Amino acid sequence: MKISSLQATFQQSRPNSAAFFERAKHTISGGVNGNLRYFAPFPIIFEKADAASLIDLDGHRYVDYLLSYGALMLGHAHPEVLKATQKVWEEQGTSSFGATHPLEMEMTDELLELYPSFDQVRFTNSGLEATLFALRLATASTGKTHIAKFEGHYHGAHDHVLQSVNPTADLAGTTDSPQPVPESLGTPDYYRDHSVILPFNDWDACEKILTKKADRISAVIMEPLLSGYIAADRTFLKNLRELTAQLGIILIFDEVKTGFRIEVGGAQAFYGVEPDLTALGKVVGGGFPIGVVGGKREIMELASPLRSSKKSEVVFHSGTFNGNPLSIAAGLATIRYLKQPGNFAQMIASTNQLRAGIDALAKQYDLPFQTLGEGTIFNVMATQDSVESYRDLGKNNNQLRLALDYLLMENGVYSKPMNRFSISAAHGQTEISTTLDAFEKSMAALKQDPLV
Ligand SMILES: Cc1ncc(COP(=O)(O)O)c(C=O)c1O
Repeated sequence: MKISSLQATFQQSRPNSAAFFERAKHTISGGVNGNLRYFAPFPIIFEKADAASLIDLDGHRYVDYLLSYGALMLGHAHPEVLKATQKVWEEQGTSSFGATHPLEMEMTDELLELYPSFDQVRFTNSGLEATLFALRLATASTGKTHIAKFEGHYHGAHDHVLQSVNPTADLAGTTDSPQPVPESLGTPDYYRDHSVILPFNDWDACEKILTKKADRISAVIMEPLLSGYIAADRTFLKNLRELTAQLGIILIFDEVKTGFRIEVGGAQAFYGVEPDLTALGKVVGGGFPIGVVGGKREIMELASPLRSSKKSEVVFHSGTFNGNPLSIAAGLATIRYLKQPGNFAQMIASTNQLRAGIDALAKQYDLPFQTLGEGTIFNVMATQDSVESYRDLGKNNNQLRLALDYLLMENGVYSKPMNRFSISAAHGQTEISTTLDAFEKSMAALKQDPLV
């Protein structure tokens, strides 16, 4: 089979999505409100969602593993989230105070209990804003202007972190000395020139780079699991924690994907490593927009207006909808659900069952797929080799994975082509067996008519 014939089948069975996209692309740039949402020949247009399912404009139903990029950990419109947000209208009577309110304190108490590295928090409206604010705090705290980030790690859509997110091999430099490559047109050169790029899971190289440039680097920002599913080696992470502390560099864990998903206490609980600052997002808003920065008192206090009346002595942070009661209530309902005994364990069990099923089918059909991940996030890799860094992703047979994605969509499973899989509380036995049936049909088709 060919990718082009899979795309033709995709197109034929989705005339309504195709027609809608034709119109949308004229007035919404590229037809999408986010570049990552596009895929060829056109992205599916969704009309409705229901627990663990998505329904498109052509009436196809899919088991949803995108889950709004992992945010919807309880699935779509979970009863607890519905109840909590309804209660906000009834009891608080508004969607936004633009001022401190008691629910913010309830959320803060939950976060401080689950994330022992937090002495204080601030709420934002997105993960992007959380990493932006965390980096500003780090710059203020250290007086240094460069940031170090890992090749292949994503921290949202702001200028300083849009470096070497997905660099091409010809521009990315050597493995032990990666070079910053802008991810976007329009990011001023300043950010490239003030970025240090680190190779994930390569301790010797990281130690050399950080030691050499320590006097310039304010922070190391990282996803403890690259893209949420490629785990940091435990010793690597422990070494990084120790070295950054020694060198006066602030360690920021970007747990926007991994928070509440690897463990309820995030990747930092999984690894037993405490960063100085953490960015959270996605799950903590229970399906509503949110971001959180939490961390050490002496750093977080830099943003306190109680410190000084001089602007030059306070880190600025603001946002019209920061801490709005709908996001906080939905997030609290989600966290409280996850904390109830057995609930998170059940989601891990479902994830493991699904992964074991996919791995077994790959063996049965003798296809080079394997699942890779931790907690409630995994990806389906089209390689048998080990994948531990951004450059290892080059071993993935992208065309084969893409073919699998088109077949899965025809068989009612959606993660968005080439994307990772996230599980929700709404993914029960029915969804898992439907999904495994879809994988079986897709792999059987690939085996019978291999990709050329
Ligand atoms: C690790 C990580 N950091 C930051 C962000 C940005 O979050 P948002 O999309 O809410 O701005 C994302 C989004 O996918 C993310 O995965």
